[in-house]
Amino acid sequence: MPELHRNDLIRLEGITREYATGQSRQTILHDVSLSVPAGQSCAIIGASGSGKSTLLNLIGLLDQPTNGQVLIAGKDMSRAAPDVCARVRNQIIGFVFQSFNLLPRLDALDNVALPLLNRGIGRQHARQVARGHLESLGLAERLHHRPADLSGGQRQRVAIARALAGEPALLLADEPTGNLDRQTAEDIIELLLSLNKTSGTTLVMVTHDDKIAGKMERCIKVCDGRITE
Ligand SMILES: Nc1ncnc2c1ncn2[C@@H]1O[C@H](COP(=O)(O)OP(=O)(O)O)[C@@H](O)[C@H]1O
Ligand SMILES: [Mg+2]
Repeated sequence: MPELHRNDLIRLEGITREYATGQSRQTILHDVSLSVPAGQSCAIIGASGSGKSTLLNLIGLLDQPTNGQVLIAGKDMSRAAPDVCARVRNQIIGFVFQSFNLLPRLDALDNVALPLLNRGIGRQHARQVARGHLESLGLAERLHHRPADLSGGQRQRVAIARALAGEPALLLADEPTGNLDRQTAEDIIELLLSLNKTSGTTLVMVTHDDKIAGKMERCIKVCDGRITE
């Protein structure tokens, strides 16, 4: 295995991901190796079904590879137990989904506070931190709205606030603007890029929009489960 570069926040070594479907096995990712240094902004592009979400989910510790290694901040997470993955996710990774994945019964404030509660932070402090993130994303007037009472762009900003609440070193986003109109999408992308620039948060974003990909420092293409730059 090549020497681990100190600054590599993400390192994938010979990743394969197979799914068993009925009697057959389908290989979704073939021997993918990739490293992303801390602070980089990186787009993942490719046709629908090419394996982009599978790749991002492995990086985000939402899934584990069939073969190969996933190192996050130098730690091998490839075979880590679910509770260990959950802890590393909670402390290092923020994940933004295309469909927001907010909890419908919680208001914006409690959706954002939840990962902090999971970290053992007290409710009052968690809410205070959550409020700060929501306010800085322009949602000061929406703290007590539930997701159903927010627009798509507002929901995604709540989801971004939730992803950022724990000040993650790594922000992962899977087509975060796929459900938003053009102008709202542009605003969200600018927001994510400015976080990368100002806080040095490493940003890895799946998109099929070439214009968005062009704004990132680096672009990785997934094609039939293999990657090219
Ligand atoms: N849990 C699963 N079980 C079986 N096949 C899956 C599963 N998840 C994804 N796939 C398959 O893996 C391929 C890549 O999916 P995905 O990574 O979601 O693609 P993309 O995000 O690029 O559109 C698709 O053919 C999809 O059907
Ligand atoms: Mg996808």
